[in-house]
Parts: sequence; C-alpha cells; structure tokens
Amino acid sequence: MIESAKIRHLTEHDLDHLVKLHTHVFEGYIGVRLGQKYVHKSLQWFIKDEKSICLGAWHCDQLVGYVFGSPVGYNYLLSRHLLIHAIRGILSHPQVLLNSNTFHQMVSRFRFLVFPVPQVFDDISLPGPVFSLVGIGVDYEIRGHGIGRKLVDQYCQLVTQRQFRSIRLSVYRNNQSAIGLYRSMSWHSYSHPSNPMLVYYAKELW
Ligand SMILES: CC(C)(COP(=O)(O)OP(=O)(O)OC[C@H]1O[C@@H](n2cnc3c(N)ncnc32)[C@H](O)[C@@H]1OP(=O)(O)O)[C@@H](O)C(=O)NCCC(=O)NCCS
Repeated sequence: MIESAKIRHLTEHDLDHLVKLHTHVFEGYIGVRLGQKYVHKSLQWFIKDEKSICLGAWHCDQLVGYVFGSPVGYNYLLSRHLLIHAIRGILSHPQVLLNSNTFHQMVSRFRFLVFPVPQVFDDISLPGPVFSLVGIGVDYEIRGHGIGRKLVDQYCQLVTQRQFRSIRLSVYRNNQSAIGLYRSMSWHSYSHPSNPMLVYYAKELW
C-alpha cells in the first residue's frame, strides 16, 4: 500500500487531470474512442451531479487513481445529456462504428433513449436503494500498491453514509485485475441477462 496516497472528492478543477488519466486507462474503450470532448462531458456530468460520488487518489501531487458512480437509474439522464456529444463524437470519429461491439453498444444506447426501461438486475435482487460504481481506474505505473482497494473502500463508506443498502457494477468477464479486486473485497458475481461478455458484481453494504 502506498500510504502517502490521499483520497479526496474530485471537483471541476480536477477535470483535466481526470480526463487525461481516464483516457490513458481506458484507451480503446468505446467512450474514449469517441474523443476527448465526449470523455470530458461524461466525467464532468458525474462531477457536477449532486447525487454522484467522484473520488481521486493523489500521490506526489499527481492524480493516480479515481472512482465514480451514481445511484442506480442515473443512466437515462446521463445518456440524454451525452446524446449530442455522442453524435458529434461519431461524426468526428466515424471509424468507431466499424467495430461491431461498439456499433451494437451505440445502437442499444440510442434504443434506450427512445424506449427507456428501468435499470434492474433481471436475476438477482439486492436490498435497495442501490448505488452503482460506474468507473474506476489506477495509473499503470502505480497498480498493485493498494490504491484500487483504498478507492473502493472509501467509496463504499460514502455510499453507506448516504444510506444506500447495496452497491453494484458491471465488468467485462476477461478483466482479470478488476474482477480480482472485487473478489478480494467479497463482492459476489451475477450473470448478465443480455450480454455474455459482461458480468455483474455486487455487495450488500449493511
Ligand atoms: C482494477 C484496478 C483499478 C485495480 O487497481 P490496483 O490499484 O492495481 O488494485 P490494488 O493494488 O488495490 O489490488 C487490490 C486487489 O485486487 C486484486 N488484483 C489487483 N490487480 C490484479 C491482477 N492484475 N490480477 C488479479 N487480481 C488483481 C488483488 O486481489 C489485489 O489484492 P492483493 O494485492 O492483496 O493481492 C486497475 O487494475 C485498473 O485501473 N484497471 C484498468 C481499469 C479497469 O479495468 N477498471 C475496472 C472497470 S469495471
């Protein structure tokens, strides 16, 4: 554990650092492939949204890790907010649509905007209210030193203080490091009802 790493809430002043780190950590993922502007707008939404939580880990004045999320149900509002930026991102990076996984994700996001359905786990029931962990990342150079665990731990404490009973997230099945982290913190896995590439992890907080 890097004892000197400090965790604190992120503000709009930290946005440029956050965008840079997120872009680095999630290079190749759909959001990042839509361009810096799209990443900026999506992370800014979480920072400005009162119900969301955004934490950063700082080491030697550098942002080396972050975690953010919102109460379950956030994604309709977020998708609406991002629609115009997603369209601009596609127009300026049309090559993103050549990837079939990306293409299907974009179609399902647009479909969700037109026909919103409640965000639920089809096959598990968690005590509510439920909070979502939407994103977490640690700089490559500093992984394996306990920053991810510290971020999740403090995030869960804040979520508990807000009286949420459970927390959940979805992750790609092949993401060994993230799955290792959630398992090591006693989260439980649940199969995803519609996407075999994804798996849910969840934990009851109290
Ligand atoms: C997942 C991630 C945040 C972990 O951050 P980290 O600071 O390296 O994690 P920690 O050092 O706190 O590790 C905590 C535990 O996670 C597990 N873990 C971490 N890296 C692992 C790996 N590569 N393989 C398997 N388990 C791993 C271990 O159980 C570890 O505990 P241990 O060190 O006592 O064995 C980091 O790897 C990352 O940024 N990945 C890319 C972004 C990402 O995939 N985010 C998740 C999307 S859902």
